[in-house]
Amino acid sequence: MKKLLIVYHSMTGGTRQMAAAAAQAACAEEALETVLMRAADAGPDDVLGADGYLFATPENLASMSGVMKDFFDRTYYAVLDRINGRPYAALICAGSDGRGALRQLDRIATGWRLKCVAPGLIVCTHAQDPVRILAPKVIEAADLAKCAEVGAGLAAGLAAGVF
Ligand SMILES: Cc1cc2nc3c(=O)[nH]c(=O)nc-3n(C[C@H](O)[C@H](O)[C@H](O)COP(=O)(O)O)c2cc1C
Repeated sequence: MKKLLIVYHSMTGGTRQMAAAAAQAACAEEALETVLMRAADAGPDDVLGADGYLFATPENLASMSGVMKDFFDRTYYAVLDRINGRPYAALICAGSDGRGALRQLDRIATGWRLKCVAPGLIVCTHAQDPVRILAPKVIEAADLAKCAEVGAGLAAGLAAGVF
C-alpha cells in the first residue's frame, strides 16, 4: 500500500488545522496509508518510507518556520537521491504574504528532485500586529476545504499510481 506523509509545524494552530483537513481528506482514500507528523517528530526514515509528501508550514519572517526548516536540515542529505521523482505539494499559513516560505519550500523540493503535483496553497490569517499574530488561529471553512482538496488530490493520484 502506498503511503502519504504529511509533515507540518504550527505555533498558533493555523497550519495544524490546514494539515489536519488535508489528512482527513486523504484518509478517505482506502488504498493509501496517510501519516500526519509534526515536523519535530519526523526524520529521514519517515521520508524514505513514504511515496509522496505534503509539507505544511507557517511563514515566519518571510521564510518557513524554524522548526520546519530544522526538519529539512535534519533530513535533506540523509535522503538526497533516494526519493527522486516522488510527488509533493505544499500548504503555507501566513499572516499576509506566504510567498517567501513557499519559494523556499519549493527550492528544497527541487533539490530533492520531487515532482510538484499541485499549486502551493497559501492561506492568509490576516494577522499583522503582535496581538493577532500571537493569538490562536481559526482557519475558515472555505480555506480548510481547499486544503482538503489538496490532500484528496495527492491521495487519489498516489493510490491510482498516476504520479
Ligand atoms: C515571528 C513571526 C514572524 C512572522 N512573519 C510573517 C511573514 O513574514 N509573513 C507573513 O505573511 N506572516 C508572518 N507571520 C504570521 C504567521 O504566518 C501567521 O500568524 C500564521 O497564522 C502562523 O501559522 P500558525 O498559526 O500555524 O503558527 C509571522 C509570525 C511570527 C510569529
